[in-house]
Amino acid sequence: MGKLQIRHNTLTAAEFCKLWNAVWDGCPAKEQVDLALRNSVFRVGIYDGEAIVGMARMIGDLGLCYYIKDVIVLPDYQRRGVGTILMNELLGFVRSHGVPDTEIFVELCAMPDKIPFYETFGFRANEAQRLRLMCETE
Ligand SMILES: CC(C)(COP(=O)(O)OP(=O)(O)OC[C@H]1O[C@@H](n2cnc3c(N)ncnc32)[C@H](O)[C@@H]1OP(=O)(O)O)[C@@H](O)C(=O)NCCC(=O)NCCS
Repeated sequence: MGKLQIRHNTLTAAEFCKLWNAVWDGCPAKEQVDLALRNSVFRVGIYDGEAIVGMARMIGDLGLCYYIKDVIVLPDYQRRGVGTILMNELLGFVRSHGVPDTEIFVELCAMPDKIPFYETFGFRANEAQRLRLMCETE
């Protein structure tokens, strides 16, 4: 692993799908990913040379709440601190925007085996349940 570079708000749909397909099946259509990335409030990419090795993004309103999405590190780069860099970049953005001296909700959804990773940044599960609907566009 060479020296890693952190880039803000440059993440492309092609890079997104490269990482997505490395860990999950079936990246969504490029047009959907493009729209989602353009409307994300903050995107982070981690690069080894010019190759993307990790990403994360956030949606949010800067005032009251954020939602963290698509935290992915290439399998060969996992457990080497890349996920921690991504999370610290996201939380750094939260701390440096918004109304000074206030608190902001930062939420995410995690599979049970990933909860220990998020707990290292202070996230804790509560009794809220995740409700989900796949809604078709016209
Ligand atoms: C979850 C993920 C982003 C973590 O990234 P990472 O670069 O491996 O994380 P780090 O190396 O910064 O880990 C920091 C600490 O978090 C914890 N941690 C990380 N991955 C963990 C796992 N799979 N299980 C338990 N603890 C984990 C450990 O305490 C780790 O410290 P250690 O390696 O010194 O023990 C990465 O495993 C990943 O991309 N997984 C596939 C995609 C995914 O499921 N994303 C999350 C969607 S909810």
